[in-house]
Order: sequence, then C-alpha cells, then structure tokens
Amino acid sequence: MTTTDSLRDEVRRKYAEAAVAVAEGSGCGCGSGACCEGDANEDFGTALYTLEQRGELPDAAALASLGCGNPTAVAELREGETVLDLGSGGGIDVILSAKRIGPAGLAYGLDMTDEMLALARRNAEDAGIRNAVFLKGLIEKIPLPANSVDVVISNCVINLSTAKAEVLLEISRVLKPGGRLGISDIVAEDRLTKEEQAERGSYVGCIAGALSKSEYEAGLEAVGFEDISVEFTHEVADGIHGAIIRAVKTGDPAARGLPVVQPATRAGCC
Ligand SMILES: C[S@@+](CC[C@H](N)C(=O)[O-])C[C@H]1O[C@@H](n2cnc3c(N)ncnc32)[C@H](O)[C@@H]1O
Repeated sequence: MTTTDSLRDEVRRKYAEAAVAVAEGSGCGCGSGACCEGDANEDFGTALYTLEQRGELPDAAALASLGCGNPTAVAELREGETVLDLGSGGGIDVILSAKRIGPAGLAYGLDMTDEMLALARRNAEDAGIRNAVFLKGLIEKIPLPANSVDVVISNCVINLSTAKAEVLLEISRVLKPGGRLGISDIVAEDRLTKEEQAERGSYVGCIAGALSKSEYEAGLEAVGFEDISVEFTHEVADGIHGAIIRAVKTGDPAARGLPVVQPATRAGCC
C-alpha cells in the first residue's frame, strides 16, 4: 500500500466513525480527529449556516455537518440546474441545493465513505428530497460524464485529497463550459511552509493538507478556470483560514491553449 493509499484510508476511517456516531445518536460528527477536531466551535459545522437553512434540515444532517463554510450561500444556485457536491458527507449541502434548484434540477452528492453515503441517503429521505442522487466514488475520478454539471460545490474536502491536481482537472472536465465553482475549504497563507502547516493541525483534521492561496489560484488557472477568487473568511489557526473559492470554467479551453479533457467512461466507482 502506498503512502497515498494509507492516508486516504485514514481519512475514510475517520469520517466513517463520524457518520456512525451521528447515525447511532452517540454524538455529533466532530469527534476527535475529524475536520473540526477539538471543540465543536463556530469555525466548523452548522454554525456557518443561517437559522433558516438549519430549519430546513433533519437533525442528523445538521449534526453530521463537518464543513468549514457554506457553499450553498456562495454558489447562487438557480432553478433547474445540475449541481455536484464533492465529498457530500451527511448530505447537508446536497439537501439545501436540491431545495434551491427545485424539481427540474438535480443534485449529486459524491463521497467515498459508505457510512457517510448511508447517512446522507437517509437524511435526504427524511427531508423529503426527490431530486438528489448520492454516488460512491473518489473526487479524483468523478463518476460523471464530461460537460454534464452546471455548478460544483464542496465543503472542506479538497484539502483532504491526496491528489489535488487530479481533483481540479476532474472538476474542469465535468463542468459545462461557463459552469461555476463555489467551494468552501481550508486554505493556508502563502507565507507558511508545509512543515509549519503540519505543526498547526493534522491531515485528517483538514489543516496539514490544505493548499496555499497561490497554489489554489494557479491550480485552477492551469485547468481552464477564469474569474478565480480565493477569499479568506475566518482564521482557524495562525495563517490557516476557512476560505471561499469561486471560479468559472472558461468557454473554450482549447482557444486558450489549456488541456481539453476528454469525456471519460467512468460509470463505476472506486
Ligand atoms: C470534512 S467532511 C465534509 C463533509 C461535508 N462536505 C460537510 O460539509 O459536512 C469530508 C468528507 O469528504 C469525504 N472524502 C474525503 N476525501 C475524499 C475523496 N478523495 N473522495 C471522495 N470523498 C472524500 C469523506 O468521506 C467525508 O464524508
């Protein structure tokens, strides 16, 4: 097993434990070692959603919230759109998105952890959601065709990926030309070294693996995004921030000399 595989397994195990704790009613998802490790606080989880949004959610979906922002507030979703949530966890952002896009739209949640998928499906059912589909798979190999999604959202997941360049390329592949990205993630200030980041928090705790601001911007530009912004919203440790990342997939990547990602046949999953 490679280091990458074992790190991914550790992430999967931690988030499976978090999902089981919520499903069994023995706690919230913020157990030790999860993204909001330590005290449940206002930097992570449902505290980042409006009271109105919290009222739209089943208790278990709110309890399982492990995000570091509120991507549904960023993405300005419209009726009838197709939305994809990368690392959908207990389903909070899929449920809120499905309500925004209405019955003519479709919200996909993608997650690699069986326990999270089971929790999300149950939460969506409890919320009366009919226009959501939860897929098992890796965000590094999205099991959807090219040019099939209007908006990609994600909440505190890309920092956990062991192959972030692949994730960004995959987002670019599945988005339609002109499609939008609205992500919440943990992002480091450029001044920090990777060693300094690791001193401030663990990989599964969403700190050590975070991209820096300029790495995010360069990574998105390299795979065909424009109007890129990485905006810090709240500091979670010295030089490490909750951030909102916005970008638009350029209309014609080939015209800009960018990689044109071919449709892949990835019907299965990991
Ligand atoms: C910090 S939690 C966030 C969950 C959710 N977005 C939220 O806001 O509550 C991270 C989630 O991403 C999933 N995940 C982490 N790495 C992944 C990967 N490489 N591919 C697919 N899912 C992944 C985990 O299983 C977990 O459910």
